[in-house]
Amino acid sequence: MDLQGRHILLGVTGGIAAYKSAELVRLLIKEGATVQVVLTEAASRFVGAATFQALSGRPVHGDLWDARVPDSMAHIALAREAELIVVAPATAHTLARAANGLADDLLSTLLLAAGKPVLYAPAMNREMWQHPATRRNVARLRADGAWISGPAAGEQACGEIGEGRMVEPEDLLQDIVAAFQPKVLAGVRTLVTAGPTFEAIDPVRGLTNRSSGKMGYAVARAAREAGAEVTLVSGPTALAAPFGVERIDVTSAQQMHDAVMARAAQAQLFVATAAVADWRPAQTFAHKQKKRDGEPAPAIALQPNPDILAGVAALPSAPFCVGFAAESEQLVAHAAAKRERKGVPLLVGNIGPDTFGSDDNALELFDADGHRPLGRGRKLMLARALVAEIARRLSGAAR
Ligand code: CTP
Repeated sequence: MDLQGRHILLGVTGGIAAYKSAELVRLLIKEGATVQVVLTEAASRFVGAATFQALSGRPVHGDLWDARVPDSMAHIALAREAELIVVAPATAHTLARAANGLADDLLSTLLLAAGKPVLYAPAMNREMWQHPATRRNVARLRADGAWISGPAAGEQACGEIGEGRMVEPEDLLQDIVAAFQPKVLAGVRTLVTAGPTFEAIDPVRGLTNRSSGKMGYAVARAAREAGAEVTLVSGPTALAAPFGVERIDVTSAQQMHDAVMARAAQAQLFVATAAVADWRPAQTFAHKQKKRDGEPAPAIALQPNPDILAGVAALPSAPFCVGFAAESEQLVAHAAAKRERKGVPLLVGNIGPDTFGSDDNALELFDADGHRPLGRGRKLMLARALVAEIARRLSGAAR
């Protein structure tokens, strides 16, 4: 549970996307948070207080002069207990009022009185989102230290298509979890490889491996949570990209190599978690290979794939490179040798007995000083610990 013990104040303002915020409350509670909902007068026309009350298990507030709160100072009491204020959906009008410091209802007063971090999830018609006044208001809120999540592009309630939809509750949840993570990689351009590669034999067959991509996706998410700008070059997996991460889909090792090399010079950090096939068929057939009675099984001739990690590490102005190693035996000897062979400062050894596809893992860190365990547990937790390790090393080196 990523929000265990966290107290979040959720301000819901008057947009049709208010129904998504009901789902958000459910997700926040499931992650262990307590949620205090504040509805604006307009929001309560879209979704009733009873819905939020039932989902959050707490009375909903909406009135600046609420007699239930001691001394009728609801804005002060509610502001004090919140660790983070989330405004979702945030209408154009709400953003405009907040950007200008207006305080004429409970939520806007809270935003001024709280002195707590604020995350806005804008939701509005695309023309309203593009309007210079909204652009100005959003820029001002950002300059004041607020986070803005989305908006997403797609079909809008008004029937138009464009940017302005509130981000989906699962994505907003990722941003809320991220708000509690230290920004140790703020602005660091990060490239991550993940998943298996698939080396085609013919249009229907190929060579691949059992990598699920989960560790790499967790690293991409943890880096983004820490404030990095993350590009994920991914082989075929069944996973959704972490929110806010740019994903580039590739199939073969050669495609992964080309996608990485095109971006490596701009990256400051490269984390290679992909299980790259060492060899590919020397020949890829244009048509499905048919079996013929009496003929022996064909032999598949292989040729080596480029080593992506070693290639990036050898670049003249290489990013800080981190490799992964899955060994089935003699982890320490093999991983230490692999780190030197690839020319990388940090290599992470998988020591779980069968880590493919699992949500858990156990990792060991190898560097010039030797090796030590990073821990055992959920891949996302380990990825966060790894990100903290990387950040420590990056801040020691000149960026
Ligand atoms: N790697 C890579 N490109 C390759 C092979 C591996 O970038 N062609 C990266 C992996 O993403 C990982 C590290 O190198 O970060 C180690 O991968 P691994 O498969 O364990 O090592 P190999 O070089 O394939 O060595 P071996 O097969 O001998 O174990």
